[in-house]
Amino acid sequence: MPLLIKNGRIITATDDYKADIYCADETITRIEKSIDAKRLPKSTEVVNAAGKYVFPGFIDPHVHIYLPFMGTFSADDYESASKAALAGGTTTFIEMICPGPKDDPWEAYQLWRSQAKKKAAVDYTYHMSIVRFEPKVRAQFAKIVKDGVPSFKVFLAYKGALDLSDEHLFAAMTQAKSLGAIVTAHCENAEAIDAMQKQLLAAGKTGPEYHGVSRPPVVEASGVHHLCSFASLTGAHVYTVHTSCEDSVQEALNARYRGVDVWIESVAPHLVLDESFAALPDFEGAKYVMSPPLRAKHHQNVLWNGLRSRAISTVGTDHAPFTPKQKEMGKDAFTRIPNGIPSIQERVDLLHTYGVMRGRLSLNAMVDAGSTQAARIFGMYPKKGTIKIGSDADLVVYDPKAKGTFTKSDSYSKADYCAYDGWERLGRATVVTVRGQVQAKNGKFVGTIGRGQFIRREATHG
Ligand code: URP
Ligand code: ZN
Ligand code: ZN
Repeated sequence: MPLLIKNGRIITATDDYKADIYCADETITRIEKSIDAKRLPKSTEVVNAAGKYVFPGFIDPHVHIYLPFMGTFSADDYESASKAALAGGTTTFIEMICPGPKDDPWEAYQLWRSQAKKKAAVDYTYHMSIVRFEPKVRAQFAKIVKDGVPSFKVFLAYKGALDLSDEHLFAAMTQAKSLGAIVTAHCENAEAIDAMQKQLLAAGKTGPEYHGVSRPPVVEASGVHHLCSFASLTGAHVYTVHTSCEDSVQEALNARYRGVDVWIESVAPHLVLDESFAALPDFEGAKYVMSPPLRAKHHQNVLWNGLRSRAISTVGTDHAPFTPKQKEMGKDAFTRIPNGIPSIQERVDLLHTYGVMRGRLSLNAMVDAGSTQAARIFGMYPKKGTIKIGSDADLVVYDPKAKGTFTKSDSYSKADYCAYDGWERLGRATVVTVRGQVQAKNGKFVGTIGRGQFIRREATHG
């Protein structure tokens, strides 16, 4: 069905103007000062966006939906995660494929693809994790890139589970460069963390508040330095995921000034939650255990300023939902608390409420970090990430005056808690479309499960 969005204020990463948008055959076909609805096909759905912003669909470049991790599985599936994403204004996400070290990469790729089939209501793509890179599996990664997934994920953390040896890291980055694929990386030094965890547990420091103590900023910054050193040796383009602190941002920027092609991602929890949440009593802190950990509050200013100046490119979520019951696996030792905080539904409103409305971020910077940069870096632009003739009709009509609170009862995630429960929310997506079809209204999913499509991307980082 054709779609007309009338009277809205269109906000992209660079522009801010009033116009009407007409969409047909899943794409934006007209953007004009005034489009007369009477001259359009009778079947056209008309949305009045007067007093509202019209944003390009938001893109979350870092989510976990199907995740076997730390002896359990993350709580969401493609249906619940899609609904949560759409209710909050996210129309595309990039999921991390995270197989174990013994798994066959191509089989893992097929397994993750099968999880989305018929269940996705957003468009989606993947970063393919490399957890080992011996010669016999290398051709499989080339095949995955050819299939439209030109981005890898490496973990420098999680000793014995997901971490990659330096030998394999170097070879993987060399191949990434030759394939034109970008290497996204979890940058924390696995060995240092392991040693510090052992020390803390031996001293009887077992609670969630010690998770952050076991992986201070220098552990992450040294991971960023390591990744960037290998990038300068191999020429690979790199992207530091969930960059949480000033030390790491500085390392990445220093490398950028040395000529390394490095992009920086921040994630919603690090922008608004600080280390005091992981120290909440009665094991409440476990809900706030993620890696890298929540930091001292002053790091948040650096992240917001990095976004404002566009030195930090993107804001994702690292949505990794584990229920309070699952978190109890670490009741006796913080090292066994499944790491992750769900945020896929709240990200856009958090950016608007605590970024734009607090004067930390312009609307253009919000769109750039929440959508456009992810599309550009990961080879989806201008199909995704902007409002242009020919772009996919992924649009978010956003009411900046809609006041409310974040609540668990509004949440579609199966995590069974909302990390921002009771917090003020200023603004809300009132209409969310995926390729021209309305999929969510006023925080409720109203669309079609199975409508989401796998996006084949081009390798642009050669
Ligand atoms: O705590 C986190 N971040 N959990 C998910 C796995 C990862 O490191 O991204
Ligand atoms: Zn990570
Ligand atoms: Zn992650």
